[in-house]
Formats: sequence, structure tokens, C-alpha cells
Amino acid sequence: MLRGKIIVVGVTGGIAAYKSAELVSRLRKAGAEVHVIMTPNACNFVGPLTMQSLSAHPVHVEMFGESKLGGIDHIELAQRAHLLVMAPASANMIAKAACGLADNLLATVLLARKGPVLLAPAMNTAMYLNPLTQANLAKLKQLGYQVLEPGVGFQACGDQGPGRMAEPPEIFAACERILSGMRRLEGKTVLVTAGGTREPIDPVRYIGNHSSGKMGYAVAGAAIEAGARVILVSGPVSLEPPPGAEVVPVGSASEMYQAVMEHFPACDVVIKAAAVADYRPEQSSEHKIKKSGGDLVLKLVQNPDILKELGKIKGDKLLVGFAAETRDLLDNAAEKLQRKNLDMLIANDVTKPGAGFGSDTNLVAILYPDGGKEILPLLGKSEVAREIISRIVALLDKKTKE
Ligand code: C5P
Repeated sequence: MLRGKIIVVGVTGGIAAYKSAELVSRLRKAGAEVHVIMTPNACNFVGPLTMQSLSAHPVHVEMFGESKLGGIDHIELAQRAHLLVMAPASANMIAKAACGLADNLLATVLLARKGPVLLAPAMNTAMYLNPLTQANLAKLKQLGYQVLEPGVGFQACGDQGPGRMAEPPEIFAACERILSGMRRLEGKTVLVTAGGTREPIDPVRYIGNHSSGKMGYAVAGAAIEAGARVILVSGPVSLEPPPGAEVVPVGSASEMYQAVMEHFPACDVVIKAAAVADYRPEQSSEHKIKKSGGDLVLKLVQNPDILKELGKIKGDKLLVGFAAETRDLLDNAAEKLQRKNLDMLIANDVTKPGAGFGSDTNLVAILYPDGGKEILPLLGKSEVAREIISRIVALLDKKTKE
């Protein structure tokens, strides 16, 4: 898969730089053409000669050095590479990237780059958790940079916590996934629902749920990255939609039903990540309900199950559901997959640490109608989203072949 692909590996100044040597070696062994750019600080941790020997190409460090590619190095590199991986990505370089600074060769290449970029942050835990670094990473993710969340554990400085660079095999797998999934949904329309619904009780009150919309927005972002046209039917959330998404805002489950049914005919894939209320108050009072001194009894009536309705009329479209469970995860999920006639179901136990509502990570199992299942490790929601999109691409490919 990597054969003939041009990959630029950017190495910044951090102790994890020694692991990049292994990454470069793996990429090259897999047939990629690897070019390494090191920041001057990175050269304090590993010698350029190491990287040169492993990549079999001259290593670029100086911004104004002699051209090694017979042109303007940074523009040349930024344009030619299929993928740019920054591993390790230091807090300093992440901050520079988020500000658009270009005061060394790697920062300049990054600023001039239009294609995919993968960042593998590595730094001291306190630096990683600093809200400034988190804000910089969030900004870069929002702009479409892919970020491999760092691991948690012992750090070279003696601290414990998040900040360890993802291991080289993990970075390698992410490179493969990005290069295999690139633009694979070009020409496809994907409808994603996200967020929770609000079922009005009166003009000021509603029944809602804890859905933040983060998972659905990440899925929409990953589908856009893969080249799809994305219609994002969203409940009320406090998130910026991914650039390029066509957002259809809705409030209640009934509004979501209307919006989904309206756009369904134009879609190839529907991914229902929204937490849709199963019940709504039978009546929504026209005016604010006043305290009466006694109890208030609300009668709730069933909402339509949007996904189940789609399952009945799906034709050759691909239907993907989400199931948030608090017990008997896989059994409940398998039952839902069959009952709703889905092609794939993403199940998560929302009681597990790091999974479910509001969190930036998720722990999911992916189920298929033939009984197949995969359990993914704890990953950032954007990573989970990309994994889901790569499975959808594979299912679409299988359908085309059938
Ligand atoms: O609520 P439940 O666990 O059944 O949700 C499973 C899937 O069905 C989710 O993908 C959800 O978006 C969808 N759903 C729906 N309409 C409902 C309830 C759930 O589309 N009324």
C-alpha cells in the first residue's frame, strides 16, 4: 500500500525523536519514498546521519541551505509528498503550526502544505495538558490535521501521564490508513446525524440527553476528509461543524425524522450517530407551565425510530447505526443491528471510563450483520471516526464487487 508513496517525516526536538528512526525504517521497508526534515533542535536528540541512512535520502535541516531536490526545497516537499507526518510533534511546533509561523524549514513546509498531515504529539504531561497546547491541537484538528493522541505512562522526565508519543507501529498503521482511505468517498453523499434531540414540554423546557455531538461531528469530518459530500443533520450542540459540511439544524426527534427523510434519497450512506429521544411529551404546552402546588404528570408517547424506518426502505444504501448501552453491550447491539436492518453498528458502553457522552475519546465495538465484530482500542473520537469511515469504504467496495 505504501509502495511508491512519498512520505515526509518531520522530526522535532524531543526525546521521542529516537522512535522516529524506527518509523522511518518501517516506512522505507514498506516501499515508501521517505524524506526526513529535522528541526535544528531535533538534531540534538538524533543525528541526521541516522535518518539519512534509514531513509536513504539526504536529510533537510536548514531553511536556506543548498537545494537538495533541485528546486525550492520546502515548496517542493510540501507539494510532492502524499503525506506529511510530524513525529514527534513538540508543543513548540504544534504552537507554531497553530499560529501559522514559519521560522524553520519544517514549520515552513507545514505552512505551505495542502495535503494530509499527521501529527504524533510527544511532550511532558503538563505541557500536553496545558490548555494552550490543547487549544492549539483543537484548532489544528478543526482545520483537518490528523492527530494521533499520545499514550499515557512513564515519561523520560520522570512524570506519569499522557504525552508519550504513539508507538511507531501505531503511527505506521495510521499512515497506511490515511493513504488507503484518501478521497475514497469521492462522489458519494453521506448523511450523518449528530447530537441529542430536545423534546419540548413547553416553550422553555425540554427533555434532552447528555449527547455532546462530538462523535457524530468527528464522523462527519472524517467523511469530508475522505472526499464525501456530507449532510450533517444536527441536534443542538456547542461545536463548530467541520468545514465543508452542509448543516441541517434540528431540535426534536420529529424534526430530525423530517430532515433525514427529505435528504435520504440523495444519499449513499447514512450514519446515525445522534442520540434520538425515544419518547416525547404527548402535548407541548403553548405557554410556560406554572407551578400549581401539586405534582405534574407528563404523558410520553413514542417517537418514530428513524433508523428502523430507514432500514425498511434502504434499497442499496448503506446504513450505519450507533448504540449507546449501559449493560449487555454486545447482545443489545447485535439485536439492534438485526432489528433495524443495518450494515454496521458501532456499540459503546457509556459507563466505561473514556467512552461515551462528552468525552474526547471512545471505546467502541463494530458489529456486522454476519455476526462479525471488531473491538477497537481506546482512541480519540476523530481516530474512531476515521476507523469507521475506512470500514464503510471497505463495505462500499465489497458491494460494488458483488
Ligand atoms: O436509541 P437506540 O439505542 O435504539 O439507538 C440506536 C440507533 O438508532 C442510533 O443510531 C440512533 O441514532 C438511532 N435512532 C433513531 N431514531 C430513534 C432512536 C434511535 O434513528 N427514535
